[in-house]
Amino acid sequence: MSGLEDLFAAARAAQQRAYAPYSHFPVGAALRADSGSVFSGCNVENAAYPLGVCAETAAIAAMIAAGERRIAEILVVGPGRKKIAPCGACRQRIAEFGAGAIVHLADDQGAVETFSLADLLPRAFGPESLKA
Ligand code: THU
Repeated sequence: MSGLEDLFAAARAAQQRAYAPYSHFPVGAALRADSGSVFSGCNVENAAYPLGVCAETAAIAAMIAAGERRIAEILVVGPGRKKIAPCGACRQRIAEFGAGAIVHLADDQGAVETFSLADLLPRAFGPESLKA
């Protein structure tokens, strides 16, 4: 996991603060913006189930609120030894700010598998698609 220790630590810390009383599935995400700064987020569920927010979405919101715009890499950690991949909606959200981003899927022990966002979301629709 060389070089990912800071992202893993930030994602785990956020995961421990997840609000997931309905799914009991706490998720943490941490991303490195192009500047090198790290932003993290956790899932935040709601009694009105569809209103829940994914950890990746929360991390992206933290990045945007801090004034940054580009995701270099993002790490996601779920509970236990299974590595979880971002849902389809979060892949699209990552693409908005990091079409060339690297996505790391971690288990809770720190074992990591790495993909490009393009692998996870091929032939994506993005900001460039809106240009004539
Ligand atoms: N979840 C995330 O936060 N990120 C993912 O990549 C997959 C799923 C959350 C949404 C919901 O709160 C819980 O995990 C179960 O789906």
